[in-house]
Amino acid sequence: MSFCVLKNITKTFKIADQIINVLNGINLTFEKNEFISIMGTSGSGKSTLMNIIGCLDVPTSGEYYLDGKLVSKLNDNELSSIRGDYIGFVFQSFYLLSYSNVIDNILLPTIYSHKQKTMGNIEKAREILNLVGLSERENFKPAQLSGGQQQRVAIARALINDPEIILADEPTGQLDSNTTKDIMNLFSKMHSLGKTVIIVTHDQNIANHANKVIRIEDGRIAG
Ligand SMILES: Nc1ncnc2c1ncn2[C@@H]1O[C@H](COP(=O)(O)OP(=O)(O)OP(=O)(O)O)[C@@H](O)[C@H]1O
Ligand SMILES: [Mg+2]
Repeated sequence: MSFCVLKNITKTFKIADQIINVLNGINLTFEKNEFISIMGTSGSGKSTLMNIIGCLDVPTSGEYYLDGKLVSKLNDNELSSIRGDYIGFVFQSFYLLSYSNVIDNILLPTIYSHKQKTMGNIEKAREILNLVGLSERENFKPAQLSGGQQQRVAIARALINDPEIILADEPTGQLDSNTTKDIMNLFSKMHSLGKTVIIVTHDQNIANHANKVIRIEDGRIAG
């Protein structure tokens, strides 16, 4: 079986009397160490799909197997355990803790994992900080960093638990074109280090970094 298998995934939201069918039968498979971009117009269901792939949410129907485990029917606790083991997230608006410095932001996911804020983890956070080119900023707060630097901290945070999969939802949406290049080079580096990288983007240039482009239209895979 492939590393990630999504079979006939649907997602429906009910708000008051209104039923919104967001995903309408998604079939997808990913292998380990693929670099995939997901494109589609606003509202087509990209973030909803990413949330399911990342085990932040479960589908309304259909099956999702991650590394051979059926994860589409797990409860919240089981999902968060799978997330801690497999997934690192990067978002458009960074979501760093403003009162915590760089190193504590990077260590945040270790609090929720079996691992803790041990010396080993602090060493590892420093190594990753070096990898993203921010060793000099360890004690800075997010507001004292540029947007690109903040996103690099967020990427470092995504890497701290050594996830197999990095999910990035429009990670360069708030960045200028030069910074976008730096960040995309960083994702390419993660890919070359063996990670499975999945990026949602509106930008064809960014999509071109990926080995495979998936297009979503009205909650279906297009084409
Ligand atoms: N929690 C929710 N409750 C109700 N409706 C939702 C929820 N999440 C998403 N939707 C609806 O699902 C549709 C798709 O949303 P989604 O965020 O997946 O789109 P998207 O492709 O990521 O768009 P964008 O490019 O603007 O980020 C939208 O119409 C939205 O209103
Ligand atoms: Mg979105």
